[in-house]
Amino acid sequence: MYVCLCRAVTDHEIRDAVEEGAVHVGQLAERWGLGTGCGCCRETAQQVIDQHLAETLGIAAA
Ligand code: FES
Repeated sequence: MYVCLCRAVTDHEIRDAVEEGAVHVGQLAERWGLGTGCGCCRETAQQVIDQHLAETLGIAAA
């Protein structure tokens, strides 16, 4: 599903970015511009990051 409609970024792409080292939504902004349009996706994107870190890498969400 699309998390960022303005920049057409999906949850799958965000999870891939986490596996490549992303831990903060700001890194997704640098990579794709996520959150730099209307900005309403930033909280959801961070939740996708935190959830994927917790589930796959064993890092507890902050
Ligand atoms: Fe991501 Fe608008 S939905 S910036």
